[in-house]
Amino acid sequence: AVASFTIAIDGPAAAGKGTISNAVAAHFGFAHLDTGLLYRAVGRRTLEGADPVSAAQTLTAEDLDQGDLRTAEIAQAASKVAVIPEVRAALVDFQRAFARRAGGAVLDGRDIGTVICPRAEVKLFVTASAEVRAERRFLELDAKGHEVTRSQVLADVRERDARDAERSTAPMKPAEDAVILDTSDLSIDAALARAIEVIEPVLP
Ligand code: CDP
Ligand code: CDP
Repeated sequence: AVASFTIAIDGPAAAGKGTISNAVAAHFGFAHLDTGLLYRAVGRRTLEGADPVSAAQTLTAEDLDQGDLRTAEIAQAASKVAVIPEVRAALVDFQRAFARRAGGAVLDGRDIGTVICPRAEVKLFVTASAEVRAERRFLELDAKGHEVTRSQVLADVRERDARDAERSTAPMKPAEDAVILDTSDLSIDAALARAIEVIEPVLP
């Protein structure tokens, strides 16, 4: 196994970051961290009345597996706490330690290639049109039995993208050296194949 090798995967909501990250991690035998879950866990704590900064500062592994964090309500709460610089600062060390672990790591989020791991060996910015992304997220939530409509999910995705891209601390944007992967017209298998094509030549 490689000593330390970081793959940073960023992009907007429901672009396929998590799916590609999981598959890439499985393919290369790397560990995977979905950093969105950290913000979602803080967001959920605030929905329960907690202060966002102290929630971020005291976040534990248990907070990450307390029920379903992948709801539309928690996604919105996550993007609201994610604009707070002290919340982001509290989560940096954990993410960087994960990125440096022996054996290789894949991290997906919004600011991995730009702020958390600016020297990552590989950076991908996974994207797709808002309509395609909203349809994918709608199908996912609908399959889980959540009561959502297509237009609600599209509005949610657009609102979150705007908040994520326009915040002043660690806004979502492709790193200058990121490879852009537009999955609007790609199957999961095709997107994964493209990601592997980018990563393989860089491996030690
Ligand atoms: O992690 P992120 O929010 O970027 O997206 P995801 O949860 O990996 O993917 C959202 C949904 O799109 C999942 O249900 C995937 O199966 C689906 N999808 C995809 O990820 N990539 C494609 N090329 C096509 C569909
Ligand atoms: O899966 P999806 O792309 O819909 O969302 P997520 O990756 O779970 O992230 C939820 C929210 O957390 C995002 O809308 C961002 O506001 C925030 N986030 C962030 O600011 N920085 C990260 N590295 C990851 C997520």
